[in-house]
Amino acid sequence: MKENISKPLRTYGRSKGKPLSPNQKLLMKKEYPKIDISKLVIEAKNPLINIKGEVWLEIGFGGAEHILWQAKNNPDVTIIGVEPFLNGVAKAVKGVVDQGLRNILLYRGDARDVINLLPDNSLNRVFILFPDPWQKKRHNKRRLINEKLLSDLYRVIEKEGTLRFGSDITDYVDWVLTRIKSHNGFEWRVSERKDWMERSTDWPETRYLAKALEEGRQGHFFDFIKF
Ligand SMILES: C[S@@+](CC[C@H](N)C(=O)[O-])C[C@H]1O[C@@H](n2cnc3c(N)ncnc32)[C@H](O)[C@@H]1O
Repeated sequence: MKENISKPLRTYGRSKGKPLSPNQKLLMKKEYPKIDISKLVIEAKNPLINIKGEVWLEIGFGGAEHILWQAKNNPDVTIIGVEPFLNGVAKAVKGVVDQGLRNILLYRGDARDVINLLPDNSLNRVFILFPDPWQKKRHNKRRLINEKLLSDLYRVIEKEGTLRFGSDITDYVDWVLTRIKSHNGFEWRVSERKDWMERSTDWPETRYLAKALEEGRQGHFFDFIKF
């Protein structure tokens, strides 16, 4: 089935959860604007113009466990995190402040809006970890990963850069592998089953993954390389 690529459908569920605590509200008011990437977009047409070193993008960082881990362990890399869920963004901002991180930029909203503003070949790594599965047949079209997103990511990822994807939903894994294959711009370099059934050491567990494992689902882990 061909996806409707002319009008992007909403790919996420809730954009707010329980009300923010007074401290979270304060952080969103005072600290979020300091690392909000949309401020850079207003200042310069290319939001990455003054950034030195590698730039990575995490799409849908959820509870922010992974983005905070990567930022702490890769201090020379700038990581852009995009997430529409307010409570997740508030967690990321708190982590940035508590851990004194200086290499995270955030955007609360749809990652596709950010990708559209990025120059060609500007990202070294993109993470899409456990995207919303939209499992019902009639909801499949809401899946974030589709032909359009893959071709947009192909444009912004540099040659030999990585698109990292994980899922606990086998039907979504098949969906993505089919689309990666037909896109034909990314290589999946694996030799044995454990390459996609085991998490590499630079892939920290998130709450979402811990819950999936607890509920008996298995994680699947992929690195696709742009060639
Ligand atoms: C199932 S959660 C997984 C969260 C996290 N990646 C993890 O592995 O723990 C999927 C996340 O993707 C976010 N999301 C969905 N569509 C998005 C989009 N278009 N842009 C950015 N984030 C999106 C959702 O709000 C949600 O937080």
